[in-house]
Amino acid sequence: MKYRTFSLGTAALACAAALAASPSPADKAASTAAFLEAMKVLNHPRCMNCHTTTAWPTQGDDRHRHTFNVLRGPDGKGAPGMRCTSCHQDKNQDALKIPGAKDWHMAPLSMGWTGLTPGALCAALLDPARNGGRTGAMVIDHMRHDELVLWAWTPDAKRKAPELTHKAFVAALETWVDKGAHCPAP
Ligand code: HEC
Ligand code: HEC
Repeated sequence: MKYRTFSLGTAALACAAALAASPSPADKAASTAAFLEAMKVLNHPRCMNCHTTTAWPTQGDDRHRHTFNVLRGPDGKGAPGMRCTSCHQDKNQDALKIPGAKDWHMAPLSMGWTGLTPGALCAALLDPARNGGRTGAMVIDHMRHDELVLWAWTPDAKRKAPELTHKAFVAALETWVDKGAHCPAP
């Protein structure tokens, strides 16, 4: 009888340990849902036009290839003689319909998101080999403060900002990471 109680106790302990190690289903659901909310921005043309996997940036809501045969070049800042900042200034030039923000250039290929499913984009964001060596908190910090990110909410007169506000976007990202940084199924 004594032995039986003991073994039941061990089983209960093992069970509790397993529960502590694996995330609660509620947290996992909340984290994943928050990421899908943030996808409304991550997937938006204002972000995607710079985060391509092609040798060129894209333009407009239909993400067509950048005109003038603009190429990403070796450093994401354009080919020699066709540098991004020769046209894109530190701020929008509404009269010329040229968007602008400080140090306008493309995200590196490793940070290209073209065609990724939400699950794959989520995994890429969390992978230090692809996100510029950032932790989850640093990835959020980038999206909180970076000027090229913030530009998406102050685009030129020709372009639309994402429907989700920047504040709601950051809040969704914080919930995603606070609840365990879970990704939707790939
Ligand atoms: C004008 C081009 C441009 C636009 C627009 C832009 N980005 Fe980026 N993004 C970059 C560049 C360049 C980097 C690399 C910066 C670095 O690593 O220092 C980057 C890096 C990032 C990173 C960190 C690396 C990673 O992939 O995890 C995140 C996150 C990110 N951008 C999110 C966004 C979001 C969200 C938007 C839209 C709201 C956006 N970006 C719009 C150019 C852009
Ligand atoms: C010869 C001038 C010129 C050069 C060089 C140039 N751009 Fe552009 N870019 C433009 C113009 C003009 C537009 C606006 C087109 C329009 O009205 O949709 C534009 C639009 C864009 C957009 C679209 C923004 C959006 O969400 O619709 C992105 C992204 C962009 N450029 C990135 C770059 C990058 C990155 C480089 C360097 C690799 C670069 N451009 C080089 C002239 C240029």
